Amino acid sequence: MKGRRVGYPKIHRVLLTTPEGFFFLSLVYAKSGQAEPERVVGKRILRVLRGEAVWPPPVWLMRQAGRYLAEYRAVRAQAGDFIALCMTPDLAAEVTLQPVRRFGMDAAILFSDILILPWALGYGLRFAEGEGPVLPKLVPGDIAGLSLARLAAALAPVAETIRLVRAGLDPAAALIGFAGGPFTVACYMVEGGGSKDHLRTRLMAHAEPAAFDRLMDVLTEATIASLTLQAEAGAEVVMLFDSWAGVLSPALFRRHVAKPAAEITAALKARFPALPVIGFPRLSGGLLGLYAAISGVDAVGMDTATEPERAAELVGPRVALQGNLDPAALLAGGAALAAETARILDALRGRPHIFNLGHGIFPETPPAHVADLLAQIRAS
Ligand code: CP3
Repeated sequence: MKGRRVGYPKIHRVLLTTPEGFFFLSLVYAKSGQAEPERVVGKRILRVLRGEAVWPPPVWLMRQAGRYLAEYRAVRAQAGDFIALCMTPDLAAEVTLQPVRRFGMDAAILFSDILILPWALGYGLRFAEGEGPVLPKLVPGDIAGLSLARLAAALAPVAETIRLVRAGLDPAAALIGFAGGPFTVACYMVEGGGSKDHLRTRLMAHAEPAAFDRLMDVLTEATIASLTLQAEAGAEVVMLFDSWAGVLSPALFRRHVAKPAAEITAALKARFPALPVIGFPRLSGGLLGLYAAISGVDAVGMDTATEPERAAELVGPRVALQGNLDPAALLAGGAALAAETARILDALRGRPHIFNLGHGIFPETPPAHVADLLAQIRAS
């Protein structure tokens, strides 16, 4: 916050040559002057993402920085507007660090939003109080106006937020960067905001396939650019939130969810071979196996309705699982929370697993329930 600005870490770049090509190894020195690489090896969440069954499992929660925390509401009020909060590095870094400081989470997730990407492409976005995001309703003629040229400059504050978070983060915790799945971002652009049935988007995908493919290509390229910028700035893991992946037919799921995820993962791995990718194709049920096989991600996020045992069968032993406590059980607390938590821990014991929710935390959640959850996981 104001007056508590964190200093910049020193970043040294080393050019490495490997059979896969050239890439830069970034050695990040924290303010203490101590090099990070040997500590990185031990971060619990990174060990799981390399295929190790770490017990008890590392834990973080989707939307862990948010309105359920009084300290978040205070910074949010100071920033005024939600987009201003995302784009002010000091404030965004502060709210990113709050849940890690309060609960000792195993990971911080960059404070931003999946809709900052279309905003950075020059597409209109505002967050109306109590109404959620509002955007223009995209028609095919708008696609040519999306400007990849302005992306890096528009996202410069995000890179700065990441550098500030890395400098202030508990060295045992990892920093997760993220983007929306291109299909989910397209949903918000075509619908002009949230939607019950996503019919305009699904109709465009079926009735105007060439235009919809072009939109997906632009968003896929922009997503690769955004995640590359995040990894260069210090994100140690990246996650793709494809919240509406489950509204598509299997053929269109393959084309607009699994294939873009594969393109994004391949582009990132070519540049950062050790960067783990988590995919979250929400509500995709039995298509989780197809997603894991095509996308090449290191871990798959399970939504609330997924049976962990079934997800384990579908994705196979190569892929770690993340999830999937019902956020309503976390809101309820007490015996219901304890029973649901025990069930998930038991189901995935001995398998690479990152404990998380099945969707974002509700703003009404008492922070004490989050502390109870972490205590139960760590005592297991
Ligand atoms: O998880 C985290 O703590 C990191 C930050 C983060 C936010 N949004 C902050 C946010 C992440 C990873 C997201 C992802 C996101 N954003 C998704 C995918 C996950 C999902 O929930 O399905 C989607 C679909 C969005 C789009 C979005 N952003 C909506 C629909 C809304 C309005 C609904 C709401 O909860 O207010 C937002 C706003 C938003 N994004 C808030 C936060 C903390 C609330 C803003 C506020 O403080 O008023």
